[in-house]
Amino acid sequence: MKPTWPIRFAAAALAGAALLVFVPNPRVAAFQNPEPRKVDFATEVLPIFEKSCGNCHGPKMRMSGLRLDTKPGAFAGGENGKAIIPGKSDESPLYQRIAGLGGLIPMPMGGKPLDPAQVATIKAWIDQGAEWPDNVGTQVEAAVKKHWAFIPPVRPELPAVSNAKWISNPIDAFILARLDREQLAPSPEADRVTLLRRLSLDLIGLPPTPAEVDAFVNDKSRDAYQKQVERLLASPHYGE
Ligand code: HEC
Repeated sequence: MKPTWPIRFAAAALAGAALLVFVPNPRVAAFQNPEPRKVDFATEVLPIFEKSCGNCHGPKMRMSGLRLDTKPGAFAGGENGKAIIPGKSDESPLYQRIAGLGGLIPMPMGGKPLDPAQVATIKAWIDQGAEWPDNVGTQVEAAVKKHWAFIPPVRPELPAVSNAKWISNPIDAFILARLDREQLAPSPEADRVTLLRRLSLDLIGLPPTPAEVDAFVNDKSRDAYQKQVERLLASPHYGE
């Protein structure tokens, strides 16, 4: 026998009630709890800047003087002034441009517009005070500053060494200091034939002629070696 309709209705109603009670819907929960969530800059906003704005407002290119990859750059703004006004998204050119407001070319220029959720995230971030932690996003600038090409050369202090008599020019002090640290003693100076051979190979890529070797071996002046350096530097074959 088929169940009569009131029984069927009651069963359906019960099942529906059970669904309502036992399957909480997260979207309903969010709707019932409208308190705005705090936007996390590093994980939610910076990735949008990097992906959608970085090519034109990043380390390589700064359209209109604006860069969005570093905190100082982003808050300094562009040629037309501040782009981000903390707490006031509606007055922030950055928000106006991504939302297509204000009659100017929307950003990202020529690219796929940000989706509404991304626009909302950036708006909320600005309205929540546009907090940008100091250690986030500034790595590029710090790395650039640390690159050796941007560090002005400074003459270093000469290190203390065990045997000052061994040193004939300041660079020797660094070599001897390192040998001291390794507890090694310098080798004795090479004989003149070897010295000239090394020097000649270094500077012109060829060994000295027997006549050049004899001249050096017999030169008793104090600056004999220096004279050989000058002779080879003046040679048309220097650096060949
Ligand atoms: C393909 C290049 C390109 C991309 C990508 C791009 N922009 Fe721009 N942006 C420009 C150019 C060019 C200008 C200057 C011309 C203008 O203001 O319309 C500009 C200007 C701006 C300005 C005004 C700065 C000032 O003071 O004049 C803001 C704000 C801005 N962009 C924000 C963004 C944001 C945010 C993104 C990423 C969502 C973005 N842009 C992506 C090219 C780009």
